[in-house]
Amino acid sequence: MPQSYEVGNHSSPWNPRTWSRRVWTILITAIVVIVIVVVATVVGVNATRNNNNGPSGPDPNRYPNYTRLDYTLADTYSGTTFFDKFNYFATWDPAGGFVHYVDPEYDARYNLTVATASSAIVKVDTTVGPDSEPDASTGRFSVRLESKAQYGPGLFLFDVKHTPYGCATWPALWLADPNNWPQNGEIDILESVNQATTGTMVALHTTAGCTMENIRREMTGAAGQADCHNATNGNTGCVVNGPPATFGKEFNDAGGGLVALEWRNEGIRTWVFARDKAPLKLDGTTAANPKPDPSTWGPPLADFPSTTCDVAAHFRNQSIIVNIDLCGYLTEAVWGSSGCSPSTCQEFVANNPSAFTDAYWEFGAFHVYRVQ
Ligand SMILES: *[C@@H]1O[C@H](CO)[C@@H](O)[C@H](O)[C@H]1NC(C)=O
Ligand SMILES: *[C@@H]1O[C@H](CO)[C@@H](O)[C@H](O)[C@H]1NC(C)=O
Ligand SMILES: *[C@@H]1O[C@H](CO)[C@@H](O)[C@H](O)[C@H]1NC(C)=O
Ligand SMILES: *[C@@H]1O[C@H](CO)[C@@H](O)[C@H](O)[C@H]1NC(C)=O
Repeated sequence: MPQSYEVGNHSSPWNPRTWSRRVWTILITAIVVIVIVVVATVVGVNATRNNNNGPSGPDPNRYPNYTRLDYTLADTYSGTTFFDKFNYFATWDPAGGFVHYVDPEYDARYNLTVATASSAIVKVDTTVGPDSEPDASTGRFSVRLESKAQYGPGLFLFDVKHTPYGCATWPALWLADPNNWPQNGEIDILESVNQATTGTMVALHTTAGCTMENIRREMTGAAGQADCHNATNGNTGCVVNGPPATFGKEFNDAGGGLVALEWRNEGIRTWVFARDKAPLKLDGTTAANPKPDPSTWGPPLADFPSTTCDVAAHFRNQSIIVNIDLCGYLTEAVWGSSGCSPSTCQEFVANNPSAFTDAYWEFGAFHVYRVQ
């Protein structure tokens, strides 16, 4: 039965035996509050120490350890079977382009992909004009290919012989999980628009919580927007801009070169080497490099360290994607300053098939390595 412990006769206020239930309740509550405050303070101080995004911002010296990893060849795209390892993305363009991404039947009819022993070519149609049937009044034929295989972290080597360029083009070589975007992330390795005179735009696109703000990075490219979140500034992503020689005519005139992506939990880095400066043998088809070691290659073009971006949590399940979009959000945003045509981007695409003769990718082999 509830009862009072108050005896009320011989008691001193300091004798606990004489305290009322109310006094006990107040005392215990006070002790609990003190314990909670002390624990919270200690945990809070430690969290601030361990998390470099605490009130004082990231530790400017924090940097991941990109130590050598032991890579082993896991997959090769080469020769006349190069395209067998891709699916055709043949539906409306989510990037708002003035393009018809073809299926295999239309690819064969318009000859948009060609694989030989030493090269794989991906083209935009250069035959359809205003008097053709069908014409290009609703968009020009092009190709978007997505690798059937989906990859986890690894080293991806691309022998790139020619990058597409020209007014109205928006080509890209990138990785993404199209069915789980942006949850599984996107890594843009080579991307440019129009005449491609300003180099490649390397970029990551993620859900919230992956940024490159105020952190140490070691790279030769120029940092653009730091927040990788797709919802920031209309999916701009976190961007690194390469010099002109990393895309377009200047890159092609040097014979193309080696384009590399190292994706690991410590961070994501990309390199673009002119062919005669490549640290590896590029013979077009075979895996001439059994043990590539990016830790000997010098600073990358783009460095996205894991300092304030949990790479393992933001990137999974990536397909290799090759496409050439036409017009679309990014291209049209800069159309007015591109030195292209007085017409609109879409009129240009519809009426000028011969303007797309440089709008093709030519690849040697792709090699995908994984850590053993
Ligand atoms: C990086 O990791 C490697 C291998 O674990 C280790 O040998 C090296 O000392 C580390 N370097 C730094 C700067 O911590
Ligand atoms: C397709 O393109 C390739 C390379 O440009 C060329 O060699 C071949 O003759 C073309 N085939 C047809 C049917 O147009
Ligand atoms: C960003 O991704 C979310 C899904 O997480 C989507 O709803 C939203 O439309 C995307 N925003 C842009 C600008 O891509
Ligand atoms: C990877 O993609 C495949 C195919 O879209 C899907 O079935 C699978 O659930 C994905 N895995 C993850 C971890 O998202």
